Amino acid sequence: MRTALIAGNWKMNGSLALVEDFARTFAEARLPAVEVALMVPAPYLDAARRAFDDTPLAVGAQTLHPEAKGAFTGEVSGDMLIESGARYVLVGHSERRNLFHEDDAAVLARVRAALTVGLTPILCVGESLEEREAERTEAVVLGQVMAVFDALEPDERVRVIIAYEPVWAIGTGRTATPEQAQAVHAAIRARLGEYDATLAEDLRLLYGGSMKAANATELLTQPDIDGGLVGGASLQVDDFLAICQSAG
Ligand code: G3P
Repeated sequence: MRTALIAGNWKMNGSLALVEDFARTFAEARLPAVEVALMVPAPYLDAARRAFDDTPLAVGAQTLHPEAKGAFTGEVSGDMLIESGARYVLVGHSERRNLFHEDDAAVLARVRAALTVGLTPILCVGESLEEREAERTEAVVLGQVMAVFDALEPDERVRVIIAYEPVWAIGTGRTATPEQAQAVHAAIRARLGEYDATLAEDLRLLYGGSMKAANATELLTQPDIDGGLVGGASLQVDDFLAICQSAG
């Protein structure tokens, strides 16, 4: 039985005031059996960890550097994220792949760094609009999954969460239909089954891309969708709470 996870990704948005706002609302919220996490900008991690202490909210980061330390001005290591309260870290988000040129090798290095320090990596995968129109969705998405999973040991694979985020649905208001999302999730799960049947059964697959309160239920009730990775709607506490309440 997979417990749903709703993860908010604030990207380079939010404020300390918003952290407090979420803490107040979630301290009193009634939630179904669901895990909830917020990927806040790195400078807010420690404040979020403290503020969320009496709430169901866990804290996550949006990226990490693959090295443990060194002359990498501006970068943050996995150990630093752990010390600041993070439990999760996003890896391979399409904005990191496209804007910061992180290729599959860079993504794998970050997944490994996360696992080494005990962070749970949320590996993001997804096709562009051109790739979908060229009917390459499955090849692209499974290729991104295999670039990481082929290189991991079995005991490492089970510690990863995968988020399927079609790039054309991110921040566009254009959501994948539940059928489109389910089809890709099912293909990922089938591919994981080639490594190990238990891995395929247990590993959580999140959907991301314009998820909001109005479409969350139809997405989250698909058999292979185990939660959401929510961008824009995670900046509005009431919207995000409504999404969490429709999971589980
Ligand atoms: O990581 C979440 C994301 O990229 C989806 O963003 O704004 O479409 O929910 P959004």
